[in-house]
Amino acid sequence: MKSKHLIDLENLSIEELMEIIRLANDIMKKPEDYAEVCRGKILATLFYEPSTRTQMSFKTAMLRLGGSIIGFDNPQNSSVSKGESLKDTITVVGGYADIIAIRHSLEGTAQAASLYSAAPVINAGDGGHLHPTQTLTDVVTLYNEKGTLDNMCIGLCGDLKNGRTVHSLIKTLSHFKGNSFVLISTPELTVPQYIKDIMNSSGCKYREASSLAEAMPMLDMLYMTRIQRERFKDQEEYEKQKGVFVLDREKLSLAKRDMKILHPLPRVDEITEDVDYDDRSKYFIQTVYGMYARMALIMKMLEKPESEPYPRRFDTHNVRCSNPNCITTTEPYLPKLFKPVGGDMLLCKYCEGRTLI
Ligand code: CP
Repeated sequence: MKSKHLIDLENLSIEELMEIIRLANDIMKKPEDYAEVCRGKILATLFYEPSTRTQMSFKTAMLRLGGSIIGFDNPQNSSVSKGESLKDTITVVGGYADIIAIRHSLEGTAQAASLYSAAPVINAGDGGHLHPTQTLTDVVTLYNEKGTLDNMCIGLCGDLKNGRTVHSLIKTLSHFKGNSFVLISTPELTVPQYIKDIMNSSGCKYREASSLAEAMPMLDMLYMTRIQRERFKDQEEYEKQKGVFVLDREKLSLAKRDMKILHPLPRVDEITEDVDYDDRSKYFIQTVYGMYARMALIMKMLEKPESEPYPRRFDTHNVRCSNPNCITTTEPYLPKLFKPVGGDMLLCKYCEGRTLI
């Protein structure tokens, strides 16, 4: 693979992404051919933040490939509770495991972990930033259920500001030809500017909409998301935002017959339960595709991990990232890594937040 780690799906070339989709489909057809391919290999799942699907599908994926698993799903039961730094935890686990999947509530954590890990690191979700293996799940679902990743009008609805799955999915689908996006949210929860910049630079058309019913007839795929309560500092603001967009059978009656509904789950109240029985609803089968997608990813990443000098040294800036949710705020030893993005602006290489010099 192009990169040793998977922090963002941008770490894969389009050819590598398509290879993973094809491999996932082959595993689905002939699982017995893959039952021993990771025998002797160990996956560590380090989940600093709650998860049902991502954590369990990673574990199931490794077990179905014949490998073994270690890790924690509650950092309070690990030495993190004694004050151990991310760097020390990763340095140690990178010596035990062949591959690591990490989830954390702070943005840029997987990138930070990759600096100190001898083993390949997979981003299993970093705060409100990215969730690349959910996007792998989504593209395997679309490829199988829609038959294409091109020329679609894609609606994304709900918490587009904090929804890391939304950011990763737009980034990836904007590389495929002819896709356009309808962003359905309140003005407070629209996508971050850097995601709009990505759509603009890739030439993808997008429009913002405030009504699900109005957007529905034009969509080939609707990606529903929950309002991310855990990302709100002010619970009153959360109360105002929840329940604004609800997909029910009445709104669904306005959709194309072959539209597909995806949702990364968990669902709270944004899709009524009766929609589950409509054959356009793909959010439960999507979780199964996700397991095969992660099996394929683990296989590819363990095939021939890129060698990288380790431990690595970096040129560090004198600037602090201004994003209060960036991992650099709690792990002060991390090198301050930025990329100039024009004018007096720097882009943080961990969280992609912008900071004025
Ligand atoms: N889609 C997703 O990330 O679900 P979990 O939070 O349950 O892992």
